[in-house]
Order: sequence, then C-alpha cells, then structure tokens
Amino acid sequence: MTLEPRPEIAQIPEAIHGALDFAELARLGITPDAVLDFSVNGNPYGPAPGVRAAIAQVPYERYPDREALALRRVLSTHLDVPGEQILVGNGSSELVWLAALAFVRAGDRVVLVGPTFGEYTRAALLMGAHLEHYTTQPATGFQVEPEELSAALQRWQPRLVFVCNPNNPTGTFLAPDLIAAWAARYPQTLFLIDEAYLTFTAQAPSVLPMRRANMLVLRSMTKAYALAGLRLGYAVGAPEVVAALRCACPPWSVNAMAQAAGIAALQDTAHLEDSLARITAATVELRASLQHLGLAPCASTTHFFLVPVRDGASWRRVLLRRGLLIRDCASFGLPTYIRLAARRPEENARLLTTLAEVRPWSDSC
Ligand SMILES: Cc1ncc(COP(=O)(O)O)c(C=O)c1O
Repeated sequence: MTLEPRPEIAQIPEAIHGALDFAELARLGITPDAVLDFSVNGNPYGPAPGVRAAIAQVPYERYPDREALALRRVLSTHLDVPGEQILVGNGSSELVWLAALAFVRAGDRVVLVGPTFGEYTRAALLMGAHLEHYTTQPATGFQVEPEELSAALQRWQPRLVFVCNPNNPTGTFLAPDLIAAWAARYPQTLFLIDEAYLTFTAQAPSVLPMRRANMLVLRSMTKAYALAGLRLGYAVGAPEVVAALRCACPPWSVNAMAQAAGIAALQDTAHLEDSLARITAATVELRASLQHLGLAPCASTTHFFLVPVRDGASWRRVLLRRGLLIRDCASFGLPTYIRLAARRPEENARLLTTLAEVRPWSDSC
C-alpha cells in the first residue's frame, strides 16, 4: 500500500519562477556563472558593501535568534512601526505560506488578482481553499478596474485576498486608498498586500500608513537589497495577525546570516538609493532600445515589464543557449509574453546585441 499525501497536494501546480534553474543548466551544459539573468526582478548592483563584513562576523555555530530581535528593532525604526507588528520570514514567500496556513480553512474563498505571483495559488490550494480569480486584461493594460473588483469582492465575500502591488508580472500599481477602502468595507477578509517590489517603483506610496487590523503588508529583502540567496522578508500587520503567523512558523526559519545581512543592508541607504537611480535610468534606456528593435514593452510602474512575443517559451530557449535568461510567462497564463527586468546598462546592451543578432521574432518565436 502506498502512503497517500493529503489530497490537496495533488491540486497544487508546480512552482514555476524566474531565476536560474540549476538542473536545467546542468542538462544544457551551461555554467551558472555564464548566465545573465533578466528573469529575476532584483538589484543588479548587488548587496550593500557592508553585508559581506556583517555575515563574516556571524557565529553560525549558534542557533539564530528565533525572534530576530535586533533586525526587528532596525525595521521598527526604519518603518516607524512597533516591533510586535513585524514578523521576519525566510523570504517573503515563507510569509505568503504562513498567512495561508494561519488564516485559510478548507473551503474558504481566496481571491487572486491576476495574472500574478504563483505562490499565492499554491499556498491557498494546500489549505484547501476555493480560488476565485479576478483577471486583468491586456486590452486595458492589465489595470484593475476598481468597480469590477469591488463587485467581485461583494459577490465572493472572501476570507483572504492577495494583492501584489506593484504586481508581478505586469508592473501595474493599485492606489493604496482603494485597497484600504476595501479592507474597511470587508472587515472579515484578510487583505494580504505584497509590496515585494514597491522599493523599485518611484514615488509609489505604500499602503502601510493606511493599514487596518485586517491588512497584512509583505516586503521582500531579497530583491532591492539583493539578498536572494540568504532569503529574507518581513510582514507588517496587527499584533494578533502577526502572532497567528508566528505561531504557524517553524522555529529558526530565518538564519543568523540573513538577519545580520538584513541589518547591514537597511543601514546603507546610500547604496540602495544609488542603485535605484541607476536601475530607473537603465529601465528607461532598455525600454527605448527594445522599441527601437520593433518590440512593444507594456507600460509598467517598475523596472520589470512584459513584452508581447509570439511564443515566450521559444524566446527563453533561444536566448538561454546564448547565456541570457528571460522569464517565459506561460505559468502566468500569458504564453505570448516574456518578462524582462532591467539590469546594468552594459548587461542590457548584451541582451540587445543578442536580440538584434538572433532576431527571435523573425521566425517561429
Ligand atoms: C510578488 C512576489 N512576492 C514575493 C516573492 C518572494 O520573494 P522572496 O521570498 O525572495 O522574498 C516574489 C519572488 O519572485 C514575488 O515576485
């Protein structure tokens, strides 16, 4: 007799994300260091210089601080939020899963404002949620139509709503006062607002100052602070909501090096600001050069954006063979799009030169 896992396990779609797939590279005989990765929406200038020194000081024979007290103190000052309203996670993806674990019961309605980040679906389905999809359309620039979403929320009365702001993969942004108004109207619904990419979006206001007891705001420190390999993120919410997530969290999930790196990264605001200014300029240039090649990048409020193509999977295959990784968007339900994130100008130039040589749009791609 085979041991059957919970039936929900069979319902969960495969985790498909950007970033290097080491097994795939091994199959193709490509070394990871030879690949320029345009499929992750990170900071191509890397972590603040103080991060390496901070990691080197960590006594990693000791267990890490389970409460991440020192990091939470720095975050508390940085965000002007009491420490009891902050939970640090092993990447913000852990916090997505903890929110589902702590709040979703089998059969609960969970709303996805899509196309969006795939872990919301996976976490909700593990808990046996009934998914409801509000899906934005290319014809309206993938913008949420507030009245339509309001009507859908009224109809569904969900337990949990995931809002990714700015949204991955579309780069669209929803005004925080709209989200706060929905949270006020539906106090029985938890609104999880994923601000993983907010730092990259010039002048985009956070929903944090408007937060209510039924809102949980997630931030990632793996992207703008370039700590992807260390895994670090945090959630901000009402003390009771944060306590519920903490209760569901495995102990020591955030390792000591990630905690030390997070503190060092938060303290170097100059490195962050300098990188963000360069990334913004590089994004403008990259978009213009792509247009010059005859492509039509979609509008985006951030440094990553969709580009319509014929077949995203072929573009990915063709470019990966040349050491350039892009995000094929089939897993978002958008097989005729790719997603690119701007890198350093010289790296973007390599992508543009390869595109001009290979011209993937000229054949079956
Ligand atoms: C919208 C969004 N949220 C959260 C994450 C998870 O990031 P991390 O776990 O590295 O903090 C990602 C990663 O791609 C993402 O795109």
